[in-house]
Amino acid sequence: MSIPVETLYESVEKILIKNWKDGFTIPTSKLYPFQWNWDSGFISLGHSYFNLDRAIKEMDSLFSGQWENGMIPHIIFHSENEKTYFPNYDFWNANINTGAPQRPKTSGITQPAVHGFILENLLNKFPDNEKLIAFVKSSFSKVVKSHRWFYQYRDPEREGLTFIFHPWESGRDNSPLWDNSLDRIVVNQEKLPAYQRRDTSLAPAEERPTSYQYDRYVYLLELGKKYQYDGRGIFEESPFLIQDTLMNAVLIKSNQSLIRLGQRFGFDVGEIEEWQQQAKAAFVQKLWNEELDAFTVFDLRGGHPIRYKEIGSVATLYAEIPNTVQAHKLNDYLLDLHQRGYYVCPSFDVDHPLFDSKRYWRGPVWPQMNWMIYHGLNAYGFSATAQIVKSDIIELVAKLGFYEYFEAQKTLAAQLNNGYGGSEFSWTAACVLDLLKEKNKNE
Ligand code: GLC
Repeated sequence: MSIPVETLYESVEKILIKNWKDGFTIPTSKLYPFQWNWDSGFISLGHSYFNLDRAIKEMDSLFSGQWENGMIPHIIFHSENEKTYFPNYDFWNANINTGAPQRPKTSGITQPAVHGFILENLLNKFPDNEKLIAFVKSSFSKVVKSHRWFYQYRDPEREGLTFIFHPWESGRDNSPLWDNSLDRIVVNQEKLPAYQRRDTSLAPAEERPTSYQYDRYVYLLELGKKYQYDGRGIFEESPFLIQDTLMNAVLIKSNQSLIRLGQRFGFDVGEIEEWQQQAKAAFVQKLWNEELDAFTVFDLRGGHPIRYKEIGSVATLYAEIPNTVQAHKLNDYLLDLHQRGYYVCPSFDVDHPLFDSKRYWRGPVWPQMNWMIYHGLNAYGFSATAQIVKSDIIELVAKLGFYEYFEAQKTLAAQLNNGYGGSEFSWTAACVLDLLKEKNKNE
């Protein structure tokens, strides 16, 4: 399928309306039939161009799943009759935690905390809209509460860096980053509850995680359940315990947005400023790797960095974490990939044997990542690279359709008629539209 750029705009509206389920938007039909946390943030930006009420409702529906402890879950199961997804709400059994809402049902883990910067972005788009102003004001404390949850439950040693205990929290579900930690898990098939995957009957198996990985995802889910999803036992026992670059960078970006929003509304932002100061310092000090010229994730259980170059490092530009030297290194990394015939930005190091250009987070290009990286590059004045990041994703979508993720090698992509994973994908539509609307500095 090839869509001329001029018609992208109309296609976006069609996709967002098709995936709108009267109150929230599914990422794509079949594969992901519920509301996903960070997807919703980007999707809300897309809706705002056509119908601001829908954009507001999208975020509001997400917040309706927030737990009493502050966590915003990674999936909100608005429909309990939809049985085509695994793990469904009954498998998660989130109500094992007394602070999880009875309705809507939710999962028991979280995802990157995009909400702060999404609310700020919406407000910058519509600064005088009374309804939006009221919504952002009333959502402010919910988002702060979710950040407080991160720093309280996911940073027990008060380092300023939060941990994840499940790959699905990272947003980059099957990145090679997690392989060694998953290998640590010894699965006893007799103890693991029986389950049936749904994803591999809906998308080609070679584009999805393996069953070896899936068993371990279920193992970690069960571990979360054992500790009501917020107990300290998770920190003490989980074989998978990681301080992730993307999770922490997104949190830092949203902290900054909350500080600006709070100042604008006259709210106290002292607590957020403290988190922010500590988080930024710890990030630069602990996660920068001189040999790789990249930020790396830290394996808290193993007590060492995980030395891979991948997209979480580049996304730090969006949170304005790198100093000038580091930012230049990250910009060079992207330019080098561009010159070598890749669409930027591949999700994993193309020179590493674990790079897999087809499989999910092990290589392909992801639209929402390009969206963040584009803004990050512009913030540092790398507007020419920003333009490449923007035009690459637009070109991929125009050539191959609104897929979930895309082939990174240009020579291979030229032989394809489609992207990878789900089609008519909501955040792909939303991010491409938002990028099309952005005037680049040198356009
Ligand atoms: C996959 C992605 C995750 C996303 C979800 C819904 O699980 O890895 O980041 O939120 O799909 O699109």
